[in-house]
Amino acid sequence: MSSSHAKVFVLNGPNLGRLDLRNSSIYGDMNFEKLKEFIEIHARESGFEADVRQSDSETTLITWLHEAADATLPVIINPAAFTHYSYAIRDAVEMLKGPVIEVHLSNPLAREEFRHTSVISGVVTGTIGGFGPDSYRLALIALKGIVEKVSFNL
Ligand code: DQA
Repeated sequence: MSSSHAKVFVLNGPNLGRLDLRNSSIYGDMNFEKLKEFIEIHARESGFEADVRQSDSETTLITWLHEAADATLPVIINPAAFTHYSYAIRDAVEMLKGPVIEVHLSNPLAREEFRHTSVISGVVTGTIGGFGPDSYRLALIALKGIVEKVSFNL
């Protein structure tokens, strides 16, 4: 893949690896492999090389966030259920040096009350939710706008 594309980490939290087995009226039918391909294709269109990862483990997600911080990489993150209660992920997101966009496939604010709180939103550049896989595509477009205007070390 072309090395002229700036790298972006696209990190996904618990249960997203089994997307096609979740409630399809909320998450649709796409499996994680297809979502990964979708993100990679749209990343290239926005000038990025997406490193798409998924883990059910808070520890692993934090390790990847540290990796992104050390490399000054932009991050798109769907923290999944950790969105609502992981102060450890929030603290790791806060340490990022590049822009960071929180994404959700569903619109958590239109769902159960416990999903109305994001402990992550307060430390991200912006949040996009409710558009299914397009949430990631829109995040990539937003990120392109940010990196074109802001000078930081990609
Ligand atoms: C989610 C929304 C979260 O509330 C939920 O726990 C998820 C997925 C989303 O993408 O819509 O696992 O982050």
